[in-house]
Amino acid sequence: MRSEKSRFRRLQHKLVERVAVWGDRYLYKSHIQWIADQSWLDPYRPYMVNDPTMRRPQVRKLDRRFVLIEFARYTRELRGSTAECGVARGVGSALICKALDETYEPGDRHYGFDAFSGLPEPAEIDRMASGAKGWEAGDLKHDGTLAQAALAQFPQAELKIGWIPETFKGLEDVLFRFVHIDVDLFEPTRDSIAFFYPRLVGGGVILLDDHGLTTCPGARKAALDYFAGTSEIVLDLPTGQGLVIKRQTDKERRASA
Ligand SMILES: C[S@@+](CC[C@H](N)C(=O)[O-])C[C@H]1O[C@@H](n2cnc3c(N)ncnc32)[C@H](O)[C@@H]1O
Repeated sequence: MRSEKSRFRRLQHKLVERVAVWGDRYLYKSHIQWIADQSWLDPYRPYMVNDPTMRRPQVRKLDRRFVLIEFARYTRELRGSTAECGVARGVGSALICKALDETYEPGDRHYGFDAFSGLPEPAEIDRMASGAKGWEAGDLKHDGTLAQAALAQFPQAELKIGWIPETFKGLEDVLFRFVHIDVDLFEPTRDSIAFFYPRLVGGGVILLDDHGLTTCPGARKAALDYFAGTSEIVLDLPTGQGLVIKRQTDKERRASA
């Protein structure tokens, strides 16, 4: 009886995998360039070995990496440092460094922020509307060695290990062109936006990984609260990410004319 059950489970699992592998054919029209021809992915594959994206069927996961790479590349012509809040295994940071390869001027750095000790206590606002069990303190614990290894070959990369926003101290005078915020919860998202947005150069990008995810309501609220009443718009992307491209001031526009 038991072996019957486990055979059924294996079969069920295989079927789900099969459907998922074929899923991108249904989700995307085959003529969409970036999904049909994945040669864009080649330079990034070595940095994605520790990425769960690459171990599971790709459906709707690879596109988040694609968006990260594309918006990092969008800032290639800008000056400034880059940052990632929430580094985990280091994949996102490595992709940013690779996408902006050879564009870091002397003095520009990539800063990766993570405590590696699991999520802090979620606030009430981080609870999912569905009532489902959401994040808990201690989730997403990593020991940091994978991140260190992933970033070892990028001389501009620097890990700031500890709690956000404590680890922002000392960077008050740094300007940034691209910031990836991926910390899942309200408080660290709020603190990250409040620190980096004023230090973002005109045309610079903040990519909010969790903005449209039902699992991260606090992260969305943090961004919407911060930008409410400003001229900035947090764009919702179909991947669940949120995007802010900082408007240039008149002074910046005149300087670049
Ligand atoms: C989803 S993971 C980041 C994934 C990564 N950006 C990537 O692209 O692969 C979220 C990370 O945020 C970190 N984190 C959350 N809140 C934090 C805080 N207040 N201070 C430092 N790190 C925090 C967690 O330790 C976790 O590693």
